[in-house]
Parts: sequence; C-alpha cells; structure tokens
Amino acid sequence: MNVQYVNGSNPWPIRCNQREPVQIISGDVRDKLKEIPDNIFHTCITSPPYWGMRDYGHDNQIGAEETLPEYVKNLVSCFRDVRRVLRVDGTFWLNIGNTYTSGGRAWRDKDIKNKGRAMSYRPDTPKGLKPKDLIGVAWMVAMALQLDGWYLRSDIIWHKPNCQPESVKDRVTVSHEYLFMFSKSENYYFDQEAIKETTADGRSRKNKRTIWSINTEPCKEAHFAVFPRALVRPCILAGSPKGGIVLDPFFGSGTVGVVAIETERTCVGVEAKPDYIEIAKNRINAATPSLFMDCL
Ligand SMILES: C[S@@+](CC[C@H](N)C(=O)[O-])C[C@H]1O[C@@H](n2cnc3c(N)ncnc32)[C@H](O)[C@@H]1O
Repeated sequence: MNVQYVNGSNPWPIRCNQREPVQIISGDVRDKLKEIPDNIFHTCITSPPYWGMRDYGHDNQIGAEETLPEYVKNLVSCFRDVRRVLRVDGTFWLNIGNTYTSGGRAWRDKDIKNKGRAMSYRPDTPKGLKPKDLIGVAWMVAMALQLDGWYLRSDIIWHKPNCQPESVKDRVTVSHEYLFMFSKSENYYFDQEAIKETTADGRSRKNKRTIWSINTEPCKEAHFAVFPRALVRPCILAGSPKGGIVLDPFFGSGTVGVVAIETERTCVGVEAKPDYIEIAKNRINAATPSLFMDCL
C-alpha cells in the first residue's frame, strides 16, 4: 500500500502508518479521545448517532440521552476533544440529520427494510416543542459548536436521490441531511483544487457547490446507515494532503477508513461496539487505493 507518512512517527497511542494505514481504537469516544495528544489530525469526518433515532445496543451510546440538551451537551463536549486533537490548520466535517418529535409514542417497531430502526424507547417531546414538530437538532448542534469555539464555514446539503420513502400524508418526504464543515482556526488547510466540479458545458472546472447529490450506499453487514464513500471522499481530499491523517470518532463500519486507504491517507477510528469493529476490519482489509476518483 503506497501511503506516505508525512509527519514521521506520531506519538502514542497513534500507531497507524504506511504499512497499516488504519487504526481502530475500541471504547467509549469520551474516554478514548482524552488519551490522544493535541494537534495530530489533518481532518475529522464523522456521523454521530442521531438523537433518539436508533438503538445501537451498547451501554453509554450517544444518541440515547433522555433530553435534547443532554444530547447537544454530550456532542459539544466530545467534539471539543476533537478540536484539541486536530492540527491548528485542521477541519471537521460533521454529518447530522434533523429529527421529528415522537408525537407521544414511547417506542418504535422494527421496520422490515431497516431493522436497526427498532427502538425500545423514544425520547419525550422536548420542552417548548409540540408533537409532530421538526426539531432542527442538526442546526442546534451546529450553533452550539460555533458558540464553543469552532469556525462554522459551510452548511452542505447532502441530497439523497434514493432516500427512504415515508408514510406521511401531511408533509413532504425528507431527502437530505447536513454536512457541516468547521475549522479549528480562521485559516486552515483546504485543497479547493482537489474537489472542483466540472462546469455544465464540460469545458472547465468550478469551485464545488454546497448541494451534493449522492445516493445512500447499502452495507450488507451493518444494520445502520453507513456513509456513502462519495460523501467522505471530497472531505478527505479537501481536508488532508496525501499521506495525511484522518479521524472518525464514531467509526461504525469504517467507511472513513476505507476511503482513507483509497485516497492514500492514514486514519484513526474510535468505535464502542465490538461487532461493528469486526465489520470495519473486514471492509478495511478489502480496501485498496483507487486509481480513479469518481467524485471528480
Ligand atoms: C451513525 S453510526 C456511524 C456510521 C459510520 N459513519 C459508517 O460509515 O459506518 C454511529 C456509530 O457511533 C457509535 N457510538 C455511539 N456511541 C458511542 C460512544 N459513546 N463511543 C464510541 N462510539 C459510539 C455507534 O456504535 C455507531 O457505530
């Protein structure tokens, strides 16, 4: 594998290197990030559990907080550590979607297509909101992170042309999520050239726009939503040089690790659930650097 290691060796406990480009750290992200020294990663790309949406079936899972303020506080505190471990010129790409209040239902049955959506609990309607309200939690988290010191630089709409149908009759079907781009400092590493789009006439290239239409990608082993690789690739290409080091603190099935290998970067992932770590290891072992990058 042709991964160049630009910074020499990283301090303990970071061990990913040219020969083993992806390192998975097993455990609760809130403990594990604390063990990592400051200023290591070029960029961080992640998708935390959404609030009250899915039961990942392990203790201490983020997303199962009883109240919305607790969820936002947990994410802000976890991402404060992400900011510390990012290099001064680092960026942070956060994928998060909005959710609706539960309308008084205390649980949700499993859905045939999506078994992971079964939940034995549903959070109460947050104070001040009503049943059926769109919570706007994605923006709540983004604003809380900005207040905590992050530079909020872009709100990218991830448009999903193949989104899941919904049985609702009194509103339109949700077909997007957000990808917020933050930076640690006012000036930061951003390779604009690496992610330019082709113009409509196909003759030249233009700066990438804020609406990205990307189909969701199924992962047969994982019963939860995984990143499509095409969503991760521009973030890695713009956020890190070849040989750079990328972080995903909610690693799941390891898509960020797979794309790091494909784009010749190294990667550290943190994941609490051993079953998911096994899925990630298998996917990473099968990954190889891509000769052609299909997002360009
Ligand atoms: C939305 S999934 C990430 C999916 C990932 N982007 C992929 O492509 O597979 C969120 C992940 O966060 C993990 N998680 C939840 N709470 C955690 C915690 N406290 N510490 C570490 N991981 C946690 C879950 O087990 C789950 O794998």
